[in-house]
Amino acid sequence: MNTLSRPDRLRTFVGQIAALLDADVAETQLIDAGGAHLRELVSHDDWLPDAWARADPVRYQQYLLHADSRQRFSIVSFVWGPGQSTPVHDHTVWGLIGVLRGAEVAQDYCLDKGGTVIANGVARRLETGAVEAVSPRVGDIHRVSNAYEDRVSISIHVYGANIGAVSRSVYPAEGGRKTFISGYSNDVLPNIWNVSKEIAFS
Ligand code: FE2
Repeated sequence: MNTLSRPDRLRTFVGQIAALLDADVAETQLIDAGGAHLRELVSHDDWLPDAWARADPVRYQQYLLHADSRQRFSIVSFVWGPGQSTPVHDHTVWGLIGVLRGAEVAQDYCLDKGGTVIANGVARRLETGAVEAVSPRVGDIHRVSNAYEDRVSISIHVYGANIGAVSRSVYPAEGGRKTFISGYSNDVLPNIWNVSKEIAFS
């Protein structure tokens, strides 16, 4: 598979999310329309370069694919090694999650009156192509796991901020919460802007 063959797909998606934010749409519309665009993006698996699809044997990877120049949004590939999962965490901003390869299991949580985190509903299995949303409005605390113990899964996430700069929380099993900033696994971003090359070889 030539994973560099269609950089235009991510470029188009960047423009679609930016256009929604330029129009200053309500979060509901952003999630609906942005979710539809993300569903289209993850319906094709011919655009994510291998360097941003590499699993780590110890920890799931978060590769920044694009950051908006005003940090209004960021796009990240989450690469899950076999059996890897996040801690229970929140986001504090809207987010969209689309499964590009494999499958994931998502479990929602909420805080009880005493501030203790508890499971909210049953875990959902998200197959390739599935899209879902998080936000403080629609439910912001969850834990995501690779559904597979023997293969890599990848999801594409979009957040309403530069998520690598957002102070948010993880909720340890022993109770309470810990502040964290997730950061990124990569120092180099994929070049989706070399349009002349696409024209030359199309
Ligand atoms: Fe998350």
